[in-house]
Amino acid sequence: MNNLKTIFSWMLGSLLLLAVSCQSGPPKNSRAAQSEKGKAFFMSHCASCHGPNANPDRIANLKTPPPDLTKIMERRKGLATFPVAEIASYIDGRKDVQLHSRDMPAWGKYFADEEKLTNDEIKGKMGELIAYLMSIQK
Ligand code: HEC
Repeated sequence: MNNLKTIFSWMLGSLLLLAVSCQSGPPKNSRAAQSEKGKAFFMSHCASCHGPNANPDRIANLKTPPPDLTKIMERRKGLATFPVAEIASYIDGRKDVQLHSRDMPAWGKYFADEEKLTNDEIKGKMGELIAYLMSIQK
């Protein structure tokens, strides 16, 4: 009887272990998982201007050529850590007083107006984009 119990709990244990190890991709909410989501959004909404294969028609009429986003750190020489707050606020764009003078869409406004996200959800989106941008710095 006791033996049976032991075997049973052992089986249950290995089943649980199997379930955990079968999860595909990195654990939820890890930096890697965030970065993957950020990458997906980047490819569908940002890559048309920022490359890797920026669409020439999309960028033809911009006043400023879209900067290479693998060089955010390189452009800010001497910076030890990624400027998370600065870049998040720039992508969000809603605080930008000179909105009309920039070519880059204000993504915070897009998330609020088009996707009806709350401010917390928008912060989450920014986190995903930042995680991706941090992962591609050269
Ligand atoms: C319509 C073209 C366009 C799209 C789409 C676009 N950007 Fe931009 N982005 C620009 C331009 C142009 C600049 C240069 C500054 C300006 O004129 O706004 C820029 C600047 C930036 C910067 C500042 C880089 C630095 O070193 O200061 C970041 C970060 C950025 N974009 C991220 C993104 C992200 C993330 C997305 C997608 C959610 C995105 N961009 C979509 C055109 C675009």
